[in-house]
Amino acid sequence: MEDQGATPPNEVAGAQQPRLGRRSFLKLGSVGSAAAVLAACSAPPAPPTAVPPTAPPAPTVSAAPTPVAATEPAPAPAFSDVLPYPRLKIATLSDLQKGVFSTTYPDQFSPVQVIKLGTKTVGGVGPDGDIVAYSGLCTHMGCPVSYDPATKVFMCPCHYSHFDAAADAMLISGPATQHLPRLVLEVEGQDIYAVSVQGLIYGRPHNLSLTEL
Ligand code: FES
Repeated sequence: MEDQGATPPNEVAGAQQPRLGRRSFLKLGSVGSAAAVLAACSAPPAPPTAVPPTAPPAPTVSAAPTPVAATEPAPAPAFSDVLPYPRLKIATLSDLQKGVFSTTYPDQFSPVQVIKLGTKTVGGVGPDGDIVAYSGLCTHMGCPVSYDPATKVFMCPCHYSHFDAAADAMLISGPATQHLPRLVLEVEGQDIYAVSVQGLIYGRPHNLSLTEL
C-alpha cells in the first residue's frame, strides 16, 4: 500500500492548481492597490526634518544723526565794501529850511538833491526821519531834474519824466525806465553825510568813475 499521507495535497498526481481568471486577477489587483493606499495613509507621518536654527538678524545700528550747525545768513556787504565811496558831509539840517538843498556827491560832476519831506519815510534820516537825497540826473538821458516841494515830485525838463520823492524816487511817468539813484545818508548832530549810492548814476560805468577803467 502506498503511504498517501506523505504526499502534499497540492502535489497529488493529476491534481491541477486552481487558475485565476482575468476578472479575478484584476479584482485582486484592485484590492492590493487599495490596501497599499490604506497602508500609506495609516502610516505614521515622517518625522520633520530637523532644520538648523538660523541666527537672528543682527540689529542694524543706524548712524547717529550728524548735528547740523545752524548757519547764520551772511550779512550783505556794505556799499563801502564794494566800492570805496567817500563819506562826505553834504549838508546841514539848517540847509533844509526850504525843503530842498542842492549839492554834489560822490564828486563835483554828480549833482544831488537833499530833501526834507516833512513826513517820516522809509530810510529817512534826521530827527524826524524824513530826510532823503537822490541823484539830480535823470535816468533817461541825464538831464538835470528839478524838485517841487509842494508836490514832492522831481520833473525832468527834457522829456518830462516824473519821479516820486516820497516813494524812493520811483518813476511816475515819462520815457525813463529807472528811478533816481538814492544816496545813503547818516546824520551826526547837525551834519548830514553821504556814504554811498544805491543805483547807477546816469552816464557812468560805475558810480565812482566817469569813464571806463
Ligand atoms: S532826459 Fe529826462 S526824460 Fe529824457
